Amino acid sequence: GAPRRARLRIWRGDGPSGRLTDYTVDAHEGEVVLDLIHRVQATQAPDLAVRWNCKAGKCGSCSAEVNGRPRLLCMTRMSLFAPDEVLTVTPMRTFPVVRDLVTDVAFNYAKAREIPAFVPPPGLGPGEYRMSQEDVARSQEFRKCIECFLCQDVCHVVRDHEENKESFAGPRFLMRAAELDTHPLDAAGERGMDRARGAQEEHGLGFCNITKCCTEVCPESIRITDNALIPLKERAVDRKYDPLVWLGSRIRRR
Ligand code: SF4
Ligand code: F3S
Ligand code: FES
Repeated sequence: GAPRRARLRIWRGDGPSGRLTDYTVDAHEGEVVLDLIHRVQATQAPDLAVRWNCKAGKCGSCSAEVNGRPRLLCMTRMSLFAPDEVLTVTPMRTFPVVRDLVTDVAFNYAKAREIPAFVPPPGLGPGEYRMSQEDVARSQEFRKCIECFLCQDVCHVVRDHEENKESFAGPRFLMRAAELDTHPLDAAGERGMDRARGAQEEHGLGFCNITKCCTEVCPESIRITDNALIPLKERAVDRKYDPLVWLGSRIRRR
């Protein structure tokens, strides 16, 4: 069919001097917001900065906000919106703007480093690891994460609270702690490390009050809150009050 004219308001600039700028471009059937951003670049604003890579929802690069909701620009179909709706496209609000739609997501890399890595089981060499299918299936859901950081962007604990950033790892990395905490081969416990209590006491799990906004925006439909954060909270509380529960859970898992 013939293209229609779509109206976009795009955040331009770096930091305090930034402002919304209006553009009108053609929109063809089946296009996504990133197609229109690219058309603005090609026809009106060659210096418009936008980060993207795969255009298939898999690299996690094109994260931004459309009408205030965190989204992957490459997976957001124009057909979601009314034809006369003005789309406001802004950079992720929780992270500092580099320029235009590009943010500096270094916060997330710093948080990734703070979660203790997988501790290999002593006495097993490469090729000797064995896991039951049930354990594989559980962690598989979390491993679908493409590190788009939309969950980190939306979580109210840090979204408008710069002061919480130091003590809160965010849903993506609390999920990582949850994954390792139930990993049957992780030997952190043998080193005296309790991942659930560590998440609670050092990585800000207690800040999460289960609003589930993270789960709602996850493009991989990972049930972050129900399957990672809530069970992790429960394990942290159990172990706090009863160290034997924690020890028992380690032994049963063998
Ligand atoms: Fe993105 Fe989902 Fe991973 Fe969060 S958990 S970084 S929303 S893919
Ligand atoms: Fe934040 Fe998700 Fe908890 S949005 S408050 S981490 S449920
Ligand atoms: Fe790779 Fe959008 S460009 S997820």
